[in-house]
Amino acid sequence: MTGWLDGRRALVVGAGSGIGRAVVDAFRAEGASVAVLERDAGKSAAITEALPDVPVTVGDATTREANDEAVATAVEAFGGLDVLVNCVGVFDFYRGLGDLDADVIDDAFAEMFSTNVKCHLHAVKAALPALRESRGSIVLTESTSAYYAGRGGVLYVSSKFAVRGLVTSLAHELAPDVRVNGVAPGGTLDTDLRGIPSLGQESRRLDDTPGRAADLAARTPLGVALTGADHAWSYVFLASSRSRGITGDVVHPDGGIATGRQTERRP
Ligand SMILES: NC(=O)c1ccc[n+]([C@@H]2O[C@H](COP(=O)([O-])OP(=O)(O)OC[C@H]3O[C@@H](n4cnc5c(N)ncnc54)[C@H](O)[C@@H]3O)[C@@H](O)[C@H]2O)c1
Repeated sequence: MTGWLDGRRALVVGAGSGIGRAVVDAFRAEGASVAVLERDAGKSAAITEALPDVPVTVGDATTREANDEAVATAVEAFGGLDVLVNCVGVFDFYRGLGDLDADVIDDAFAEMFSTNVKCHLHAVKAALPALRESRGSIVLTESTSAYYAGRGGVLYVSSKFAVRGLVTSLAHELAPDVRVNGVAPGGTLDTDLRGIPSLGQESRRLDDTPGRAADLAARTPLGVALTGADHAWSYVFLASSRSRGITGDVVHPDGGIATGRQTERRP
């Protein structure tokens, strides 16, 4: 059996849990060699224990240094890099501008946009020389919140619209050498997505929301509550040569949100 990613060398940033962790498993199942960059030491140790052949860099992906180190580690281990995936993100638990004290906006904006936006810039910048050499592919993580309001607060939604802008802008800039696409998951089960410290939310997990599975399914026309493992195949496709004619585009594994129809409104 041949895999969709046979021989591909990938770096997954934010791979310790949720969608990124599922991408690691799917990529490996499809034949890729995978390295990871993850901030959380416990999650990093768990990857090393479960997958001893995966080179793990423990570091903060909002910094240039951590991304440079992770790319160097991957290139040294694999002899090059074909794919960069970034699954880092933090949430704001639906805080509207009216919910934010004026004196918290500077810190909250810096935290949200540093993690959800700048992190992608550093990762792409660090990986670019190796990706140009391999004529590789980048997959960034958007969200339903990159297209619609209401599934996050003002900072989360605007940060995800910015990631959407990065996909378009980088795809334009990096063609024909490197393809750049996005995956825009809908609300996802079994992840560790957390809030930001300036809003006092760093220990709060979105996945702990009571009734979340039923709520997610009820929101979508397909009536599905998806997990990282479901989304991972969109990343596999965009990282593979099957998508070689696609750049600046997005796959939306979200149960059909764009149809505008909600399951609870069905007759
Ligand atoms: N959970 C959802 O409902 C949902 C829906 C749509 C989009 N997303 C997006 O999917 C992506 C993955 O989210 P998830 O739900 O799997 O959450 P997650 O928290 O399980 O995964 C994010 C990973 O990134 C790591 N991380 C966070 N900040 C980091 C940093 N500065 N440096 C290095 N690693 C860091 C975390 O430790 C974690 O392992 C995010 O971009 C999120 O916005 C999530």
